[in-house]
Amino acid sequence: MKIFIDTADVELIREHAEIGIIDGVTTNPSLIAKTGRKFEEVVREICDIVDGPISAEAVSPNAPEMIVEARELAKIHPNVVVKIPMTAQGLKTVKVVSAEGIKTNVTLCFSSPQALLAAKAGATYISPFVGRLDDISAQGMGLIEEMMEIYDNYDFETQVLVASIRNPLHFIEAAQMGAHVATVPPNVLSQLLKHPLTDIGIEKFMADWEKVPS
Ligand code: G3P
Repeated sequence: MKIFIDTADVELIREHAEIGIIDGVTTNPSLIAKTGRKFEEVVREICDIVDGPISAEAVSPNAPEMIVEARELAKIHPNVVVKIPMTAQGLKTVKVVSAEGIKTNVTLCFSSPQALLAAKAGATYISPFVGRLDDISAQGMGLIEEMMEIYDNYDFETQVLVASIRNPLHFIEAAQMGAHVATVPPNVLSQLLKHPLTDIGIEKFMADWEKVPS
């Protein structure tokens, strides 16, 4: 499973990229707004830090404008993947720009029929938001299971990018289900790295090491 980091904070991206665990980055308008910086400037900086797919979201409401916007975003860097909302206008856009070789990530997916339609339109990635489904008492990870089955049935090439991950269990289940990508916020990435028994073990080894005669 590929691991993307779900943030637009370049310092956090740098920190995790240096560990060597980041395959790509996803951003959205809310994450960009949090930085207080200009969109294009942030996307360019992220592309300099991580050599992998970098999702940047289109915000135009209709296909004709969204198509122009997608082409502009794709020009920023060859690694830019244009994030496009799961709407009829969004799918029209995906169909047109995919044929031009632009990579797309269909976002705000909340059902398996939406996932099937995005794959038919030619999306490179589909982003189901599991945490937001859990928030409304629906089974976020149940959607991933359904989507994986449907994609396998028809050999779709669209990659399932599990988004809105809120805890390590989402990550573990995504891997168990064979999802292609998990995009993980920095706080959850830190939780994935840590285990109390690792810390206790290191402390004990270091204390015992002190007793070894030099
Ligand atoms: O990148 C989109 C997604 O991961 C958003 O997560 O926590 O705002 O639902 P969240």
